[in-house]
Amino acid sequence: MARGYRYFEAIEKNAALLGVLTLVMVSLGGLSEITPLFVEAHTVAPAPGVEPYDALRLAGKDIYVREGCYLCHSQMIRALRAETQRYGQFSVASESVYDRPFQWGSKRTGPDLARVGGKYSDAWHVQHLVDPRGVEPESNMPGYPWLAAASIDGADIAARMRALRTLGDPYTDADIDGAAKAVAGKTEMDALVAYLQGLGVDNEPRPDAKASEAAPK
Ligand code: HEC
Repeated sequence: MARGYRYFEAIEKNAALLGVLTLVMVSLGGLSEITPLFVEAHTVAPAPGVEPYDALRLAGKDIYVREGCYLCHSQMIRALRAETQRYGQFSVASESVYDRPFQWGSKRTGPDLARVGGKYSDAWHVQHLVDPRGVEPESNMPGYPWLAAASIDGADIAARMRALRTLGDPYTDADIDGAAKAVAGKTEMDALVAYLQGLGVDNEPRPDAKASEAAPK
């Protein structure tokens, strides 16, 4: 009998040894998969056309997070035919470098929103956010009518931009100084709609623009 086989048999007949060695192998495999991601996460560069959110859309993004829209909507189109035909070009990490926290997710009570920008008019979004069932009778999305009456604090947005700059987002002094003016007189509804209308359009690359343009409902 070959010597190697004897070792093999010894391991196989000793549950504790087999367990320990299995653990070692799984750990090694896991580490070799996971460790590079720690480094990679810091090296993903923004895709061409991807810029930090302007003041109004940044405010909108924060409202999106505050209201928990992500609990029902993902922003991640998977690289599967059924997904790309419905939603457009699949998502890549370099689109989301300025999303803090990122909004990929996997929970889809409602449709994916990664490329919803331009699919509907601003007026449609306002109507839908105020009264979803007025637009889609079977919708179970809650209404958010108060957004239309809530104003945005410009100083707060400027402070957020300054904080994001410390994390590496390339906001200029002019961007930050102009933030209060950019959101002056706007409601939270305006900001949220501006954010939605930018998804997959202004702030993200569209290598396959036709797929998302051809798909409006
Ligand atoms: C309880 C789950 C739920 C929550 C929370 C929710 N939605 Fe929805 N959403 C849905 C469902 C279901 C639909 C599909 C029916 C419809 O159009 O209303 C939808 C549809 C949409 C659409 C149209 C998408 C398309 O491609 O037709 C947009 C835009 C949208 N939601 C935005 C939002 C925003 C912004 C928020 C947070 C302020 C939000 N949703 C919160 C469930 C939800």
